[in-house]
Order: sequence, then structure tokens, then C-alpha cells
Amino acid sequence: MSSRATTSRSRPTSLPGRLSAVLIASATLQAGLTLLQATLAGHLLSGNATARLAHEFVATGLIMWVAAAQIVLAVLLWRPARGPAWPLAATTALFGLLLLQLGWGYGGRIALHLPIGVSFLAAQILLAISLRAQTRRSGLGAQR
Ligand code: HEM
Repeated sequence: MSSRATTSRSRPTSLPGRLSAVLIASATLQAGLTLLQATLAGHLLSGNATARLAHEFVATGLIMWVAAAQIVLAVLLWRPARGPAWPLAATTALFGLLLLQLGWGYGGRIALHLPIGVSFLAAQILLAISLRAQTRRSGLGAQR
């Protein structure tokens, strides 16, 4: 086993490795929050007013902020850490999707809101998996 492979499996020590690890953690958190949204949606559809308030709070008070933080992390990963640029494109696109999701939520466009919510969850899982694969492949976690 090469020393690079060994390092990439252990705790990341380089700046891009650390940024990538935080971005993976944020994507995992977003996936968990979106799953919570689906659960709350079940309750709000049953007429639970508290679940509606909670769904709105998780959307505007948590998910939006994590999404904004993901863009900042992706910018830092690209420059100055000289990591890949694709996470910036991905997190910016996801933020745009989130704005549509908010609009369709408030507008009651459930036929659009539900599939986008599920796709958002899948996209966050894909983001975490792709970043992890990239970290292992390119040795982003290794000290530079
Ligand atoms: C990606 C994260 C999500 C965001 C940012 C979001 C945002 C919102 C917002 C802002 C509302 C309006 C709340 C209100 O009127 O007080 C809403 C409503 C709703 N959302 Fe979400 N949501 C998300 C995910 C989901 C998911 C995953 C589901 C279900 C699978 C879902 C189902 C619903 C339903 C059923 C409504 C009620 C619509 C209505 O009564 O007209 N949402 N959402």
C-alpha cells in the first residue's frame, strides 16, 4: 500500500483535504435535514400546523444557510486551496434548485416541490460520495 493511499484513508491533513471533509459533512447534514423535511411534510399534509412551521423553519433557518456555507466552502476549496472547481458548480446549482424549491413550497406547487425535494436529497448524497471518491483518487487528503 502506498503512503499516499494510507494518508488518504486517514484524517486529512492538507487544506484541500480538510475543506473537502467539511464539505462532505455538510452534504451529509443537508441529506439528513431534507429527510427530516420529508417526514415533516407527511405531518403537515395531515393538517399539523406545528409541522408546517417546523418545515418552514428547517427550510429557511437551516437548509438555506447550510447551502450558502457549502458555496463558501467550495470557493475556498477551489481557490486558495487549489482543489477541483466542480464542487463550486455543483453547490451553486443546488442553491439555485433550493430557491426554486422555496418558491414552489410557498406557492403550493406540490407536483414540482415533492420531486425536487427528493432530487435534492439524492444530489446531496451524490455530492458526498463524489467528493469522497475524488479525495481518495487524487490524494486531496495528503499533506501538501
Ligand atoms: C429541500 C428542502 C425543502 C425546502 C427548502 C422546502 C420548503 C418548503 C416551504 C418554504 C414550504 C411552504 C411552507 C408554508 O407554507 O408555511 C413548503 C411546503 C411544503 N413542502 Fe417543502 N421543502 C423542502 C423539502 C420537502 C420535501 C422533501 C417534501 C416531501 C417529500 C416537502 C413537502 C412539502 C409539502 C407537502 C408542503 C405543503 C405545500 C402546501 O401545503 O401547499 N418539502 N416546503
